[in-house]
Amino acid sequence: MKVLVIGGGGRCHAIVDALGRSPKVDDIICTPANAGIARQARTASVKDTDVEGLLALALAERPDLTVVGPESALAAGVVDAFKAHGLRIFGPTKAAAQIESSKEFAKNLMTKYGIPTARFETFTDYEAAAAYVRAHSLPTVLKYDGLAAGKGVVIARTEEEADAALRDMLLDDKFGEGKVVIEEFLEGPEFSFLCFVSGREVTPMELSQDHKRAYDNDEGPNTGGMGAYSPLPFITEEDRQYALDKIMRPTAAAMVEEGYPFCGVLYGGLMKTADGIKVIEFNARFGDPETEVVLPRLESDIFDLFCAIADGKSVSLKWKECATLGIVLASKGYPDAYEKGFVIEGLEDIDGKVYHMGTAERDGKFVTAGGRVAIVVCEGATVAEARAKALAEIAKIKCDNLFHRTDIGKQGI
Ligand code: AMP
Ligand code: GLY
Repeated sequence: MKVLVIGGGGRCHAIVDALGRSPKVDDIICTPANAGIARQARTASVKDTDVEGLLALALAERPDLTVVGPESALAAGVVDAFKAHGLRIFGPTKAAAQIESSKEFAKNLMTKYGIPTARFETFTDYEAAAAYVRAHSLPTVLKYDGLAAGKGVVIARTEEEADAALRDMLLDDKFGEGKVVIEEFLEGPEFSFLCFVSGREVTPMELSQDHKRAYDNDEGPNTGGMGAYSPLPFITEEDRQYALDKIMRPTAAAMVEEGYPFCGVLYGGLMKTADGIKVIEFNARFGDPETEVVLPRLESDIFDLFCAIADGKSVSLKWKECATLGIVLASKGYPDAYEKGFVIEGLEDIDGKVYHMGTAERDGKFVTAGGRVAIVVCEGATVAEARAKALAEIAKIKCDNLFHRTDIGKQGI
C-alpha cells in the first residue's frame, strides 16, 4: 500500500514511523519533509497549504491513503479537494475543521450542546471588548479568533495588559482582521485527549500532556510544545470516562447534528479544574508533540485504523503497557529569533525514538533548520523511568546551539 503524508514536522515523522511499522505499507511519500523523515520515506517539496500542488502530487502518485498532519492544510481545504477527486484521505473537511480554526464556532457549539467550557463572550469592537474586561475579574483570557500559530492567546493579569492585547487584536489587526473571544480564566492541570472520530463514533487514545512554556518550572514564553508524556497518573479512570462521555462523544454528535460530521483526530485540550473537567480548546488533528509520545505506545496497525476511519467504520485500539516521554531539543533563542545551520551529532546513537522537527541535511550531516529541532522519546515502566532515560540519551547529542527542558513529566512523577 502507498500512503501520502502531508506535513513535515515531528508529528508527521511519528506518523511516518508508525505507518512504517505496518506490514501492509511499502511506500510512503511525505511532503514537505524534514531530513529525518527523508530517511524513512520518499519526499516531495509541496507546501502543506498548496492544495492544487498536493492534489497534483496525489493524482500523479495515486496513494491508497492520504494522512493530513497540520491544521493549516485542513483549513486550506485539502480534504475537501481530495474527496472531490475520489481520493481516500484521513482528516476533517474544512467545515468540520472549524472546531479548531474558529474559536467562536467551537465556543458556540459547546454552549448549544452543554459541553463544559470557560464562560465567554465574542467581540469585534474594541470599545465593547474593553468595557467587558473592566466589568469582569482578572486575570482574563483573550483569544484571537483564527489560526495564529499558538500566539493568539493572551492571559492578561492587569487591565493594562488586557488593553494592549485588545489593541493588537482589534485596532491594529496584528493577526489580520478578526474577532476576539474573551474568556473566564480557569485553573488546574491541562491534558490532551486525542480521539479517533468518525461521525458519532469516538475511539479514545491514551492520554498525554504537553509542556508549552520554554523553560523549566513552566517559565518563559509559550512555544509550540517543549515535551510530552503518556500516560497521566493524575487523571483518574473516572475523569477519563467523564471526559469521554460528557465532552468528546457529545462533541462528535454535535458536529453531526450541525451538518459538519467530523472524520479524523479530534483533540480535546482539557483542564481538570476544581469545578470539573472543562474544554480549553479543540483541535482538528493530532497534537504536536503529543503524537510523538502516543503513537509509539500504539500496537494496532495504524494503516488499518486510518483507512477504517476514512471509510466511516469503527475501530478498536491496542496499547503497550508502558510510559513514554519525549523531550524537545530547540534552537537557543526559540520561540524568538534563533540561528540555523548548526551540525547535530549523535542522533543515530540514541536508544529510543528521535523524531525530527526542524532539521536539514548538509554534507551527509544533520543540521538545525527550525526553532524546534527534534524530540527524543524514550520508554519506561513509569514516567520517571522514561524521563531518566530520555535525559541520559539526550546527553549523547552534540550540538552548539540547542537547549531542552529537564522537568518534562513532573506532574506525572
Ligand atoms: P489555546 O490556544 O486556546 O489552547 O490556549 C493556549 C493556552 O492558554 C492553553 O494551553 C492554556 O494554558 C491557556 N489558556 C487558554 N484558555 C484558558 C483559560 N480559559 N483559562 C486559563 N488558561 C487558559
Ligand atoms: N500540543 C499542542 C497542539 O498540538 O496544538
